[in-house]
Amino acid sequence: MKLIVANWKMYLSIKKSVALARNFRRTLSKPKAEVVICPNLAALSEVRAALQGSAYKLAAPDIGTGERGPGTGEISVHDLKELGCKYVLVGHSERRALGETDAVIRQKFETAAATKLTPILCVGEKLSARKSGQATSVIRHQLTAVLKKIPITQLPNYPITIAYEPIWAIGTGVPAHPRDAVKMHRAIRTLVTKLVPRVKVVRVLYGGSVDPNNAAGFLSEKEVDGLLVGGASTKPSFIEIIKATSH
Ligand code: PGA
Repeated sequence: MKLIVANWKMYLSIKKSVALARNFRRTLSKPKAEVVICPNLAALSEVRAALQGSAYKLAAPDIGTGERGPGTGEISVHDLKELGCKYVLVGHSERRALGETDAVIRQKFETAAATKLTPILCVGEKLSARKSGQATSVIRHQLTAVLKKIPITQLPNYPITIAYEPIWAIGTGVPAHPRDAVKMHRAIRTLVTKLVPRVKVVRVLYGGSVDPNNAAGFLSEKEVDGLLVGGASTKPSFIEIIKATSH
């Protein structure tokens, strides 16, 4: 089953988040994909209530580095779990752009994985890297920094989930060509399997300017296990993206 994640970022108010969550469950009560809604942290609790008992799951957009303790403004993995989250985004490019380092991302990944909140590790290259043929080596660096020698006890016994999100495609209206995404997904899968030899399943999602018109082009590819959708997930027409799942 494909995994479709709605990344609402900072777009919606709490009230609008709740209304949209209700709209989704009312319009499509039995999605043929695993659908995960990632509201902003302030809206988590109310969106959870709006989705209670539905097929829609919940994710958090970020997580604190440690489990408990000092960390003003951070959120503990335990609270995210108590709030009903099944997934958490880790290392989104918008957080990396604010200065989040590979070391911090690794800590967040480990914290989530150790407590069985599934981390979705986001990786992606800048346009300059793509143009100079460095895209794969950037991704290799990002994956290695987080996954190399990761203690086996920290590993979730569910699939490792990576979101390939080229930075130049995020919020620009210019998605990657599915053919290029497939190439990168294949490289990511190979690399993750090498870095974490005991992993059984690697899921690779594509993100970056996915919309109802181009979603099927990605989802029909075997290498694309799902989508991470930003702007287009903040509208009722997100349902069309979920429906584009062919299997
Ligand atoms: P976008 O964002 O769909 O608006 O390009 C994707 C993301 O940042 O996850």
